[in-house]
Amino acid sequence: MTRTISIFGATGSIGASTLDLIRRERDKWKVVALTANGNADELASLAREFSADCAVVADEGCLSRLREGLSGTPIRAAGGEAALTEAASLPADVTVAAIVGCAGLAPTMAAIAQGRTVALANKEALVSAGEVMMAAVRASGATLLPVDSEHNAIFQCLAGNDLEHVRWITLTASGGPFRDWPAERLAHATPSEAVKHPNWSMGAKISVDSATMMNKGLEFIEAYHLFPVGTGRLRIIVHPQSIVHSMVEYRDGSTLAQLGPSDMRVPIASALAWPARMDTPCAPLDLAAIGELTFRAPDEQRFPATRLARAAAAAGGACPAVLNAANEVAVAAFLGGKLGFTRIAAQVEETLGRFAPPAPTTLAEVIAVDAEARARTREMLEPA
Ligand SMILES: NC(=O)c1ccc[n+]([C@@H]2O[C@H](COP(=O)([O-])OP(=O)(O)OC[C@H]3O[C@@H](n4cnc5c(N)ncnc54)[C@H](OP(=O)(O)O)[C@@H]3O)[C@@H](O)[C@H]2O)c1
Repeated sequence: MTRTISIFGATGSIGASTLDLIRRERDKWKVVALTANGNADELASLAREFSADCAVVADEGCLSRLREGLSGTPIRAAGGEAALTEAASLPADVTVAAIVGCAGLAPTMAAIAQGRTVALANKEALVSAGEVMMAAVRASGATLLPVDSEHNAIFQCLAGNDLEHVRWITLTASGGPFRDWPAERLAHATPSEAVKHPNWSMGAKISVDSATMMNKGLEFIEAYHLFPVGTGRLRIIVHPQSIVHSMVEYRDGSTLAQLGPSDMRVPIASALAWPARMDTPCAPLDLAAIGELTFRAPDEQRFPATRLARAAAAAGGACPAVLNAANEVAVAAFLGGKLGFTRIAAQVEETLGRFAPPAPTTLAEVIAVDAEARARTREMLEPA
């Protein structure tokens, strides 16, 4: 039976891994929509290859290029944020939310509003919208399937079990490329060093988040919403090998863990095929060759981002949206060579300290908080 799929952020790292899986099962999938920001040439080429119904660039200035790339095909081309949201409303059996950053929020919410099955990689959208998104999921009956490897692991470990029996949910963290660097060296870390993740191949923004450990902070907030056991039963442990993707400990003392190679095609496949399973080309796990799986407590002195995120999750309201927006701006400034590595978390803390709006209760309010937090962070970084 053919299943339909839309991929938001098709030209990115998660988009490429998803399309790699679809490519191997072409007869089983029909592609509805593929989207990108401005990478019109790549998007056109993917839309042609997969005979998509439509292709959308968020940056309207790139629409003419997309049209050129699709000329002679029946594929519909569209541009702009409204077109992105419209594409998310098109019927699809699975909608993959893989845009980076809060830019993915509106299309993800549009798919949720239609009661779709959403394979969620775009953690920033859930971090920012939090309760607003989860309430929309409950209202529409949408299914949210986590693609983030940790949350996908927890989802698998929880299958068939009640949250009331959970003692701990433990998110594993690789610790990023700087996990063994002394504090003094961190201040001089460069963007090219920060994007070189030891275990995973990912987009630039999430790679920097991994280096600051903000990625684990965002994931803590994501887990808080997806698996509501409260912040007191969620914890983070550093596991440099990235083989155990997360764990659930039950009150009888049993701990279930999900293990696998550091390849995002595994959790993506789990979400695409759920509740069944599908083949992936990933190498079988060879634990004898890996030899050792080690674990250690996170160091919040050197990497304060997880402390900030835990506090934002506990405070709730607008705090996670402000934290996320400030982080996106600070990471962009770091990647642009305008901010030192250790200033990223410091800037997030500063924005949180200076901007405390009321809790957003609608999508429009979340977007407004996000925009204002970005504007204020930019002002702090580049005072007039
Ligand atoms: N990569 C991983 O292994 C991984 C693992 C777990 C979770 N995630 C999460 O998955 C999401 C995607 O990560 P990624 O690493 O795949 O990112 P990426 O490689 O940077 O790709 C981002 C995608 O989003 C599009 N995009 C960027 N800005 C946009 C905007 N303003 N409006 C609409 N589309 C926009 C990009 O289009 P262009 O190509 O046109 O710029 C691209 O298709 C992130 O939320 C990340 O945290 C990623």
